[in-house]
Amino acid sequence: MKQHILPIVKKSFGTAANEQNIDRYTLTNRQGMIAEICTLGGIVIALKVPDAAGKCVDVVLGFHQLDKYLSGHPYFGCIIGRFGNRIARGRFTLEGNTYPLAVNNGENHLHGGLQGFDKVVWRAEPNTDGTPSLALYYKSKDGEEGYPGNLNVQVTYTVSDDNALRIDYVATTDRPTVLNLTHHGYFNLNGEGEGDILDHELTINAHRFTPVDANLIPIGELRPVRETPLDFTVPTKIGARINANDEQINFGGGYDHNYVINRETDDLTFAARVYSPKSKRIMEVFTTEPGVQLYTGNFLDGTLTGKSGQPHQKRSGFCLETQHFPDSPNRPEFPTTVLSPGEKYQSTTVYRFPTVP
Ligand code: GLA
Repeated sequence: MKQHILPIVKKSFGTAANEQNIDRYTLTNRQGMIAEICTLGGIVIALKVPDAAGKCVDVVLGFHQLDKYLSGHPYFGCIIGRFGNRIARGRFTLEGNTYPLAVNNGENHLHGGLQGFDKVVWRAEPNTDGTPSLALYYKSKDGEEGYPGNLNVQVTYTVSDDNALRIDYVATTDRPTVLNLTHHGYFNLNGEGEGDILDHELTINAHRFTPVDANLIPIGELRPVRETPLDFTVPTKIGARINANDEQINFGGGYDHNYVINRETDDLTFAARVYSPKSKRIMEVFTTEPGVQLYTGNFLDGTLTGKSGQPHQKRSGFCLETQHFPDSPNRPEFPTTVLSPGEKYQSTTVYRFPTVP
């Protein structure tokens, strides 16, 4: 076990089309856990997590080459903004004004639009006090992708000594707007390229979910998961019911659903736990957000080759995207995503990897 503090290492990851330099930072904690993060989209390129014996495995899907991130991919490891998930028909009304947004998912707006926060270059400031922490900054201009308000966003990644990747989001605006930031990591606790995630046992701290229509837009209901294939209140293999003949499962082509986290306070709350019987690795998710999207890589089709040289096959990774509920700007009954001038948007999510003794 390493006890000394390892410096944050900065390297060039290449240049984007507009000649902007993209840097890649390596953060290491005292247990040897490593996060590699690049300034394009704040992408977590690699997350190498030690097991009980200290053996590190990279548990996230992605690429070694910048080009592959630049030429299109399904949000591997990205920061998502301004709005994670879908906004119906790409529009919403706020204080009497209707805002048309970029439409990039059928007739809907998904994950911030055509050039969301996953595709922009962030300014990076590594921590200098010895903590493996990297702050990323982005100024999103009034009107970007259709959203009102100049927005200042800060996302800070920290690799803490309890083997967790902590993500703190902070933002302010100069006009009323809506905001819903998340992280789109695809995890495989057996390691990237080590097959599918169907054997992983999942627990989600949610008695209810937001059922969707055929376009994956919430219909407004908060529906109990009890007696449905969406029930993960007790540990259940992801693959156990993923092909069930169920309307919600059919709409998602598997799991692509937002769960309403059981919570009593606004503090960091346990959202989910995943265990791989094969690798004996565990991931726990804690968040201040009201929801978490379970997405089981249903659209991965093997056309993209990952870091391990293996294709990213259908269901070779799962996402647990902590978030406010999809389409909240059009659903006044959902927890609000409105951010006004003078307010501070604050959100935290922790992905922790406890080692089994
Ligand atoms: C989210 C969406 C999915 C899909 C993936 C990326 O999880 O809910 O429908 O768009 O992102 O492919």
